[in-house]
Amino acid sequence: MNYRKKIKDLWIKNAKHLYWGDDFDSRYLVVEYLKDLKGKKILDLGCSAAILHTFIDPSNSVVGIDLDEEALEIAKKLNKDKGFKYIKGDVRDDSLYPGKYDVIIFLAMLELFHPKGKFKLGDPVEMLKKMKEHLNDNGIIILTTPNGNNSYYKNKAKWKLEEVESFIKKAGLKVRKRILWNPISIHLTKLSFIPFMFELLRFLSEKLNSKNSVSMFYVLEK
Ligand SMILES: C[S@@+](CC[C@H](N)C(=O)[O-])C[C@H]1O[C@@H](n2cnc3c(N)ncnc32)[C@H](O)[C@@H]1O
Repeated sequence: MNYRKKIKDLWIKNAKHLYWGDDFDSRYLVVEYLKDLKGKKILDLGCSAAILHTFIDPSNSVVGIDLDEEALEIAKKLNKDKGFKYIKGDVRDDSLYPGKYDVIIFLAMLELFHPKGKFKLGDPVEMLKKMKEHLNDNGIIILTTPNGNNSYYKNKAKWKLEEVESFIKKAGLKVRKRILWNPISIHLTKLSFIPFMFELLRFLSEKLNSKNSVSMFYVLEK
C-alpha cells in the first residue's frame, strides 16, 4: 500500500511548517517497515513531529529525540496514550537513550553531519558507530538521506552515494536492503496527482539502481 497521501495529509494538518521533502520522498517508504512492528523497542533520532509514529502500534516502546521543542509538543499530542517518550536533546548524546533497540530510525539526519551544511554535527561515522552500539543483535537501522550525486543537490551540502557507503562500512554496519530512490528527477513531484506514480517509481528505483538517484534508503544491520 502507498502511504504517501495519508502521511502528507497528516503533516499538512498538524505540522505544515515542518513538512519536508518532495512528494516522492524516500521517507514515505519507511512506514512499510514500521506499521507491522509489535512489542519492539524503537528509537527515532531526530524525530521532529513524529508523524510516522502515528502508524506505530502501541505495543511497541518508542523513544524520540529532537532539539525542536515545538515539534516534540506536536509529537506528544499526536501519539498520546501510547506511552511513547519524547526527549528534547542532542542525538549525539547517547546518555539520553540508554540500552539497546530493535529499530533505530535515522531519517534525513546524516546530511546534518556534512561539514559544509548548516548544522555541522561532526563525524558521521562516529554517529553510526554510536547507533550500532545501541542496536540489538537482530536489530535494524532505517536510514534515508539525499544523494549528493543527483543534479538537484549539486553544490548543496549532501553526501554522495559513495561517501555514505564508505561511512556504513567504516562503522562496521552491513546493508540488508538498499533502494537508490527515484532514479528520474525530484521534479517528478509535479506528477504526484497521477495514480500509481509512487509504485512506478519504486519499480524503476529497484530496477535501475541509479547511482545518481535523488535519495538513498537503507536498512542496516550489525
Ligand atoms: C531534516 S529534519 C528530519 C526530521 C525527521 N527525521 C524526518 O525525517 O521527518 C532534521 C531534524 O533534526 C533536528 N535536529 C537538528 N540537530 C539536531 C541535534 N543535534 N540533535 C537532535 N535533533 C536535531 C531538527 O530539529 C529536525 O527536526
